[in-house]
Amino acid sequence: MSDSISLKRVKKLRGKIVPPPDKSISHRAVMLASIADGKSIVRNFLRAEDTMSTLNSFRKLGVKIEENRGQGKNTKLTIYGKGIHGLKEPASVIDCGNSGTTARLMSGILAGNPFFSALTGDDSLRQRPMARVINPLKEMGAEISARNADKYLPMKIKGGHLKAINYKMPVASAQVKSCLILAGLYAKGTTAITEPQKSRDHTERMLKAMGANIEVKGLNIRVQGLGNKKLNPVDITIPSDFSSAAFFIAGALIVPDSEILIKNVGMNPTRTGFLKVIKEMGAYIKIENIRDVSGEPVADIHCRATGNLKAAKISGDIMPSLIDEFPILCVLATQAEGVTKIKGAEELRVKESDRIQAMAEGLRKMGAEVKEFKDGLSIKGNAKLKGASIDSYKDHRIAMAFSIAALIASGKTIINGISSVNISFPGFFEMLKKLSR
Ligand code: S3P
Repeated sequence: MSDSISLKRVKKLRGKIVPPPDKSISHRAVMLASIADGKSIVRNFLRAEDTMSTLNSFRKLGVKIEENRGQGKNTKLTIYGKGIHGLKEPASVIDCGNSGTTARLMSGILAGNPFFSALTGDDSLRQRPMARVINPLKEMGAEISARNADKYLPMKIKGGHLKAINYKMPVASAQVKSCLILAGLYAKGTTAITEPQKSRDHTERMLKAMGANIEVKGLNIRVQGLGNKKLNPVDITIPSDFSSAAFFIAGALIVPDSEILIKNVGMNPTRTGFLKVIKEMGAYIKIENIRDVSGEPVADIHCRATGNLKAAKISGDIMPSLIDEFPILCVLATQAEGVTKIKGAEELRVKESDRIQAMAEGLRKMGAEVKEFKDGLSIKGNAKLKGASIDSYKDHRIAMAFSIAALIASGKTIINGISSVNISFPGFFEMLKKLSR
């Protein structure tokens, strides 16, 4: 089967959509419900490749999880939590697929458990840095070894008997932070973590709701080991993923005469740096119907093409809150007046692909002027994009970003490696078609 799609310019995007459920929250819901005591319900779970890697991993650890797929894409999970000490030794290697969140967060839980386990992943995940979790977990007392001097998957873990540490994180990463918070639940004492910049806080919110003793003050997090205490099960409803919505927000802004309503979107402020930037760029965005759903802010986003976007300078503390929106932000930048510069984004080199390189290469092929730096890039705006054959490097967000760029390009754009969209957004192309006029 061909793994590419040919896309052409559209006249406009119009309509109402509900993007798929949040990937980060879906991972965390399965993990935390699995180590809670008793039955949790997770409504609107994201049934995509990444989150299924997490779900299947916890089944391997002995957790019973029922999937009720219901109407449409709305999956309800019933998770029979085993309690913090109830997981069992897996009989075979745990395959995290493409999912960094699965590998890094699970390593924190496995480090707390006194059995043997081994983790691996696909070609991309096996090249992504794991020392960032292995080093602090070893400091807490876990026995871990991994490929290439403890830097890459596969890795093996023999955990248990963790002690709390004070850890100053060298990189802003919600995955590392969450890994250490989870290990902290198993540790004796209070684990203190300081992050260099604020990253997404879904783990902290969910754990608080489950009764864990976790305290967040700015960039400092303190989590107390559970000891004999239990985590309470939850009944949660997951909102749509802001990062998935971002592709259509951008589409609505750059395809002339577009107007769309995106419903039920997670608006956690640690995730919505993209909105701040595009508002500064002059975008028409209205946030409507703001509400709280299961401890996360949710809203509907109304956006409209107005033209007249202006270039932006993006760096510093805002970066973690728009890290996954970098590819689509680059596409937007090609249509803004002036030169957009993104710096301080070296983490993008170690995502599902080297996203700085992948965006620079593809946008140049489409006719944009791009300069690449070690930690970011600059893009000259008001570009007339032309169709090209694009390598997505099998990275879901690269494939989706160029699919949006194709909507304003002359001629045909071929996106290669499109099955990767199933990592986070099954149904992406159908949704795009539904909106295209
Ligand atoms: C995620 C955190 C981010 C993000 C990834 C999901 C999470 O990664 O890029 O898509 O769910 O915690 P880092 O924490 O490595 O920056």
